[in-house]
Amino acid sequence: MLARWSYISTSRLDSIDTEERIRDIVAVSIPRNRSLQVTGSLLFTGRRFAQYIEGTSAAIEELKASILRDSRHEDVRTIAWGEYAHRRFVTWSLAYAGPSHFVSDIVERALNDTLERGDEGIETLIQTMSEFSIHGRS
Ligand SMILES: Cc1cc2nc3c(=O)[nH]c(=O)nc-3n(C[C@H](O)[C@H](O)[C@H](O)COP(=O)(O)O)c2cc1C
Repeated sequence: MLARWSYISTSRLDSIDTEERIRDIVAVSIPRNRSLQVTGSLLFTGRRFAQYIEGTSAAIEELKASILRDSRHEDVRTIAWGEYAHRRFVTWSLAYAGPSHFVSDIVERALNDTLERGDEGIETLIQTMSEFSIHGRS
């Protein structure tokens, strides 16, 4: 059975070299996700991260533990979690499309929607992540 985890968090990265620091995160994530057979997507708005990962429950638990204790971000708010029937990011170990102020509004809205209405808000965010992963780099 597949599991998924999606959250929005607040970056603690210094604005001077944010892009480089995120490249470091992605460089570690792609091989690790691949070896765990985890797929997913990461968005960065300049202030917040939004991430969606999917894989076996064991793999998601393992990654979730690492990501939660990572001091490069804080205030990690889960917006979707649990068993899930099919993958949304089949070919992506971790799609990352670069920092995007363009998606910032969508991420903020999804966060508010999700906090207010539960699972409905997440769909907009997942859709955004899918669109970005098409144009993004693996
Ligand atoms: C916003 C954010 C997203 C991350 N996403 C992943 C990821 O998808 N896969 C991954 O292996 N590490 C990811 N990391 C890095 C992990 O938190 C962790 O540093 C790394 O996996 C090494 O794990 P360890 O600290 O347990 O040794 C992410 C970190 C941040 C701050």
